Amino acid sequence: MPSYLITGASRGIGLIIVHKSVNPENLVYALVRNLDTAQRIEALSEWGNIRVVKGDITDPDALKIVAEEVSKGNNGKLDVLINNAAYIDRDSASVPLTEFHGKENLLEKVLLETVKSFFIYFEMGAVIHTINAFLPLLQAGEAKKVITLSTGLADPDFSQQTGYYLSAPYSISKAATNMVITKYSVQFKKDGFIFVAISPGLVDTVGDQEISSEELAGYQVMLEGFRKIKPTFEGAISPEESVKAQLAVIDRLTVKDTGAFLSHHGNKEWL
Ligand SMILES: NC(=O)c1ccc[n+]([C@@H]2O[C@H](COP(=O)([O-])OP(=O)(O)OC[C@H]3O[C@@H](n4cnc5c(N)ncnc54)[C@H](OP(=O)(O)O)[C@@H]3O)[C@@H](O)[C@H]2O)c1
Repeated sequence: MPSYLITGASRGIGLIIVHKSVNPENLVYALVRNLDTAQRIEALSEWGNIRVVKGDITDPDALKIVAEEVSKGNNGKLDVLINNAAYIDRDSASVPLTEFHGKENLLEKVLLETVKSFFIYFEMGAVIHTINAFLPLLQAGEAKKVITLSTGLADPDFSQQTGYYLSAPYSISKAATNMVITKYSVQFKKDGFIFVAISPGLVDTVGDQEISSEELAGYQVMLEGFRKIKPTFEGAISPEESVKAQLAVIDRLTVKDTGAFLSHHGNKEWL
């Protein structure tokens, strides 16, 4: 029975990946950091085999315990790891890097402290911890797929074409994470692993959360940029639409694709 582990399964895209992956032929491990959120996931168990596991992906010891639990429950194997969890700081999304001119101390704080600890460290460090924790199980599994959620904003060409200069810390951290995936793909290609970074598109996971006027202005700047390359672009798609497209891409992946950075369309069309 193919087995999946999805991080950040409590809400947003992760929850829908769990929802759409569950069927009687799969075993799905849904990783959450807070078991209070497990109910929503357990409600999906009528569609197939789900196990909710608790772990914070910034905590390698917690991940080791989760890996042991998965190993015991699934004969030491895991087929597909989906690194979906991420720290998303909505406040910094609408702040351009030029804002720091004359505020070099603030730049130091944001870039060296906040970015290091919350973005670059979080993304790269946590993704590395997660992959390392599950690598022995994946090695024993059949599919050997490691999928990591990235963003088209980490593609330099896309930034050039759209002229979108906001969301800098987020884009920088995802670009660094893409390189993490490149390194793993190169190291493990000979073993039949498929390491891929996938962008989900622009997805509405904000729902009915409150949006500040700065965020709204930043979103408008983003839409204007995106419409330079796709004038018909209407805005964020639903998590369901994104996940359906992503899972179709993930299913088709073969060893030839290892190291690729793809959109939910399976190419470099990020919207
Ligand atoms: N939405 C988009 O338009 C978009 C676009 C491009 C890329 N992406 C990427 O797609 C992925 C999912 O995005 P999303 O919009 O669904 O995000 P989201 O709604 O903010 O959900 C983030 C998920 O990550 C979990 N998480 C955060 N820190 C964690 C930690 N330390 N340990 C374990 N889990 C943790 C959260 O759990 P809690 O509930 O406990 O906080 C939550 O389940 C991310 O990698 C994101 O960067 C999203």
